[in-house]
Amino acid sequence: MRLLVTGGAGFIGANFIRFVLREYPDWHVTNLDKLTYAGNLENLREVEDNPRYTFVRGDIADREAVAGLFAGGGFDAVVNFAAESHVDRSILDAGPFIETNVRGTQVLLEAARRYGVRVFLQVSTDEVYGSLGPDDPPFTEEHPVKPNSPYSASKAAADLLCRAYHETYGLPVVVNRCSNNYGPYQFPEKLIPLMIANVLENKPLPVYGDGLNVRDWIHVEDHCRGIAAALRRGRPGAVYNFGGRAERTNLDVVRTILRILDRPESLIRFVADRPGHDRRYAMDIARAERELDWRPRWTFEDGLEATVRWYVDNAEWVQRVRDGAYREYYRRMYEER
Ligand code: NAD
Ligand code: DAU
Repeated sequence: MRLLVTGGAGFIGANFIRFVLREYPDWHVTNLDKLTYAGNLENLREVEDNPRYTFVRGDIADREAVAGLFAGGGFDAVVNFAAESHVDRSILDAGPFIETNVRGTQVLLEAARRYGVRVFLQVSTDEVYGSLGPDDPPFTEEHPVKPNSPYSASKAAADLLCRAYHETYGLPVVVNRCSNNYGPYQFPEKLIPLMIANVLENKPLPVYGDGLNVRDWIHVEDHCRGIAAALRRGRPGAVYNFGGRAERTNLDVVRTILRILDRPESLIRFVADRPGHDRRYAMDIARAERELDWRPRWTFEDGLEATVRWYVDNAEWVQRVRDGAYREYYRRMYEER
């Protein structure tokens, strides 16, 4: 299998590439990544000399570059991770989200249609469904798409383009919608690595609103196995939900991190809420279990403990990532408000 992976220098993409090269000895991976603030080739150091791995720096929204890559690539499958992925940044400036998440996805779909692939896998999110009330049943794949942030609206637009390319042109598209990932190499703008990094630096822990928003957490390894399963067994045109069956309030998550690191709850600071903040996500994953023979293996408690340990053991990685352009963003989000 010759795979084109986009956004492979980011958190989930880098975990996926390392997973695939380890688990599938006859799969080849080309990683197309623009290396935005979130892309970090250090995440792929252990595979950079692997003869089954090639890195290409480029933008998925660059029509000519993408066509050139497909013309010479002979790809059997595309896995599209490339995206602007952070909700708070989309609230500050939605422009790059439309450019990459919507236009970039359309450029890839068009190239896949022109050159032909066996499967186009779009890595999507539970956020396209909108928000649940406390007693609502979890999202199924049939739930209406009702995004609330510029980020989730751009991902929903991409999902609808995927649907249209399947319905109109018969492109074999599979859409994976997954809940909140955590694990090694996650950029410390997201809740779990931000809180771990702040605890390690003895900084306050900024919890939005009342801290009672609920997310469903899945270890990134479980998500990577799910993507591989959908690539191999997914039905063209189908949507699959993935999640960890681990609903937690943000406050629970932050308190658990403090407990693991043996630090006091007095580090918690309640700060202004995120505008349009979705209250609760929860995923019904029965379809993926039934059709893809997949289920999450990590419990949240074991996964979080292993993740905290990874960040403690890789403090230099965090430091290098935090020293870059991220500093400016952190000041704007948390220190100047
Ligand atoms: P990330 O922000 O860590 O990484 C994104 C990667 O995409 C980076 O390497 C970046 O350089 C690259 N990129 C951005 N714009 C690009 C462009 N125009 N062309 C080529 N490369 C570009 O993101 P992540 O958390 O790893 O998420 C990956 C995907 O999974 C995204 O599509 C996201 O919407 C989706 N997703 C994420 C989560 C989560 O919890 N993190 C959950 C569900 C779905
Ligand atoms: O649900 C899947 C989505 O999960 C992905 O599609 C996104 O790419 C990914 O970023 C993530 O989005 P969230 O907005 O859920 O993740 P984030 O880590 O930004 O926030 C998780 C929760 O924690 C959310 O309720 C907001 C809250 N939060 C976040 C930050 C960064 C805080 O309370 N304080 C913070 O400083």
